Amino acid sequence: MFASKKDIVGIDVGSSAVKVVRLRESRGTFHLENVGIMPLDSETIVDNTIMDSTVIVDSVYFGFSHSLPLQITIMDSTVIVDSVRNLLSAMKIKTKRVATSVSGHSVIIRKISLPVMTDAELEASIQWEAEQYIPFDISEVNIDFQILGPDAKDPSQMDVMLVAAKKNFVDDYTTLFAEAGLEPVVMDIDCFAVENMFDYNYGFVDDEVVALIDLGASATSVSVLKGSMSIFTRDIQAGGNLLSEELQKRLGVSSEEAERAKLGDRHIADVDPDSVEEILTDAIENLVQEVQRSLDFFSATSSEDRISKIYLTGGVSNSVKIRETLEERLGIPVERVDPFRNVTINEKEFDSEYLDAIGPMFSVAAGLAMRKVGDK
Ligand SMILES: Nc1ncnc2c1ncn2[C@@H]1O[C@H](COP(=O)(O)OP(=O)(O)OP(=O)(O)O)[C@@H](O)[C@H]1O
Ligand SMILES: [Mg+2]
Repeated sequence: MFASKKDIVGIDVGSSAVKVVRLRESRGTFHLENVGIMPLDSETIVDNTIMDSTVIVDSVYFGFSHSLPLQITIMDSTVIVDSVRNLLSAMKIKTKRVATSVSGHSVIIRKISLPVMTDAELEASIQWEAEQYIPFDISEVNIDFQILGPDAKDPSQMDVMLVAAKKNFVDDYTTLFAEAGLEPVVMDIDCFAVENMFDYNYGFVDDEVVALIDLGASATSVSVLKGSMSIFTRDIQAGGNLLSEELQKRLGVSSEEAERAKLGDRHIADVDPDSVEEILTDAIENLVQEVQRSLDFFSATSSEDRISKIYLTGGVSNSVKIRETLEERLGIPVERVDPFRNVTINEKEFDSEYLDAIGPMFSVAAGLAMRKVGDK
């Protein structure tokens, strides 16, 4: 394969699997070159500990539900390095330049209100302005921002989206890639990568308010956009694992059996299919309630903007039940996103049914693969 110099590969290290997407761009259109996924064995999760450090998070600040653990669950980094390496080698990818992203507790995205000023003025004062919004020492974070526009209620103020990522977290992550022999030339944030993927495939409509919800294995991220502008984001520390954990606990089955049951296998020894349905219904109800709480919070803080549609990404969006429950509870139409909707696909190389089935899991990786060097 003659890779062009500007080629970058999108790599999403999710908590359940590493996902890689490689695209080729020609005349403004992306063509699918390669997709690959490598599950991270759940047995390798070291509960609540990072290899060398444990991050304690202020749960109140982030508004997480109180019952959840305050510590991050991250895997042994050598497992990730090996998985990334093996996956790229299986996909015969030689490019070293990759686009990747971070998310979770070490990343803070907040909409703040500041006196009206220019981009350059804010650039000069952002450290000082941001300080009060960040629960970490300001010297410990990388800060970025985007001016959203004037405050609707007070013309002397403007809305700014503030993004801060803990330096040591980003550094650890960069090191992990270096150990896999890779150079991250784009370091993105999960939800921005999803927005990028969405923009290419669906496009933003001016003034239309939509919610993009990424339903992953261990986390759910909610982001509300008005046109192309991100106006609200929130992380929920619960995802698809919640469903399998409930099944495992209440049915007394192994984690593998619980995962299979969740994905639709109704032939697990000594398990009544009806009770599987019942447990799943309950767990989905709980997850949907968390999402609803986030969106209620958005509505409470933003009086005039109403969400007209919800777009779902992440593996859990494959569940028809979760889509139906969301639609029912929220009274907003829900659509499962296809990250390859406008991507040209050679039918001889890729099975379209398979791509459709795995699609939602590749939303972040696809958005990353659409980045260019120099993108933030
Ligand atoms: N049909 C389905 N029904 C329910 N859950 C599903 C289905 N298909 C996949 N999943 C779940 O989706 C999750 C994987 O999704 P995804 O790849 O988006 O997560 P991740 O990126 O690894 O996790 P995170 O973003 O939380 O770190 C797993 O929990 C898997 O069980
Ligand atoms: Mg994910």
